[in-house]
Amino acid sequence: MSSDELTGASEKKGFSTRKAFIFAAIGSAVGLGNIWRFPYVAYEGGGGAFVIPYLVALLFAGIPLLFLDYAMGHRYRGSAPLAFRRVSRYGEWFGWWQVLITVVIGIYYPAIIAWAIRYTGFSIDKAWGDDPEKFLFGSFLQAAKTPGPTFDVVPGVLVPMIIVWTITLGVLAMGVQGGIGRTAVIFIPVLVIAFGALVVVALTLPGATTGLNALFTPEWGALGDPSVWVSAFGQIFFSLSVGFGIMITYASYVGRKTDLTGSGSVVAFSNSGFELFAGIGVFAVLGFLATNTGQPVGEVVADGIGLAFVAFPAILNEAPAGVLLGLLFFGSLVVAGLTSLISVVEVGISAIRDKTGVGRVAGTMILGLPMAVVSCVLLGTTGGVFVLDTMDNFINSFGILFVAALSMLALAWVWKRLPGLAEHVNAHSSIKLLGWWRWLVALVVPAVLLVMLVLELRKNLAEPYEGYPAELLGVFGWGIVIAIPFLAMLLSLLPWQRGVDLEDPGSDQLDHADRTDEGSLR
Ligand code: PHE
Repeated sequence: MSSDELTGASEKKGFSTRKAFIFAAIGSAVGLGNIWRFPYVAYEGGGGAFVIPYLVALLFAGIPLLFLDYAMGHRYRGSAPLAFRRVSRYGEWFGWWQVLITVVIGIYYPAIIAWAIRYTGFSIDKAWGDDPEKFLFGSFLQAAKTPGPTFDVVPGVLVPMIIVWTITLGVLAMGVQGGIGRTAVIFIPVLVIAFGALVVVALTLPGATTGLNALFTPEWGALGDPSVWVSAFGQIFFSLSVGFGIMITYASYVGRKTDLTGSGSVVAFSNSGFELFAGIGVFAVLGFLATNTGQPVGEVVADGIGLAFVAFPAILNEAPAGVLLGLLFFGSLVVAGLTSLISVVEVGISAIRDKTGVGRVAGTMILGLPMAVVSCVLLGTTGGVFVLDTMDNFINSFGILFVAALSMLALAWVWKRLPGLAEHVNAHSSIKLLGWWRWLVALVVPAVLLVMLVLELRKNLAEPYEGYPAELLGVFGWGIVIAIPFLAMLLSLLPWQRGVDLEDPGSDQLDHADRTDEGSLR
């Protein structure tokens, strides 16, 4: 069947092809987590031996949850709040909770993309000089002496942030197919080519094999360490963007007869494939650094900001073809980051549109402009990097784990929706959801999430994250994660637009209005 036949003509305004949907979902999944998080997590988690916890987490938690998100969005045909509202009056709360989490992510994520834009330019003349770390926190970010928010604008960060926001809101205003789908269909191949070229160049560097050996040599003992398992699950959840309402939103825009599990498997394996690919590229480069400086690889590994903006520039200073490597690496970060950011902001836009009935452009601006302002004010200043680090740590641990576990338990045990969702998915899907899927979603995954939550709580209560001051952690860490469920509750109490159908559309959805990108509810 051609992909075009998979969507009814009446749904032109959602994703018009299955390909656009799959690319958009891959665009969301493949992000900074693949490039700068996975290689480190895999290395720390036992290298070659990490394959085992990683695959277990992927097959037994990531993919089943991805299917759940798809099933929710597709069966209940709505943004996260509307989909959950159609399950139960009390469910709407979970939907807004997820929306608010994506709003917080959407506030700090653009800053990283903005840095990567600047560093793409810096690669040309290696503007960071001999001490990339000093350059990053000093002349570039101008990080304040004491960690905390400030109002001292850093134009070198603020200006690219404004550019990132303009692109993102522009794409979103153009709609699901015309904006999100089209961008993904162009950007994902570009990303694969750019990163592929990076890997090829990286593998030719002297010392590349040393890096690969360090990454892939199995450390079987790591399998006995529970924290390795926890980090495998954490990596999978974050990397696949499951539990954030993103996949619910995207799945609500695909045609009725779409093969959901087949599409989901493509997305999941593409994401993991890219992760492996990134691991090879990053460790080949780290191997070069280690060889060059005469240190073991273990001394030079880093992740996140330290990898991208400190270790990488140091490598580019020495590497043959450094300029090319720099352009490819930072350019890839920009592209991967943008498609993820787009998916993050769409969650809220879609929710506001469902709730109030405003059009696409209005919905984009009502949410996007205030978000952009807050984002620029908080992150485009000398305190930005601390705010970013704090928000990122808290939102990605407690924020997400709690709502994901609660919503799954409620769907399974209180509202008993798993059999219905499975049946819905199975009607048109290649991989059938059988009893095992229900047990994973109802029991195994929530249990894992709750264990992770407890471990994170203990860690953060034992000592303040990064030793940051209590006010910073109190407001941008604990404050936000505690406020979100309450705010979500308030939002769920606000009235729906007139005429919206809050009933279960039914599995065949024959007499239910199609969800399109123009008035999603008729
Ligand atoms: N999945 C994205 C990544 O791998 C990150 C992300 C998580 C984006 C959650 C949006 C929401 O980087």
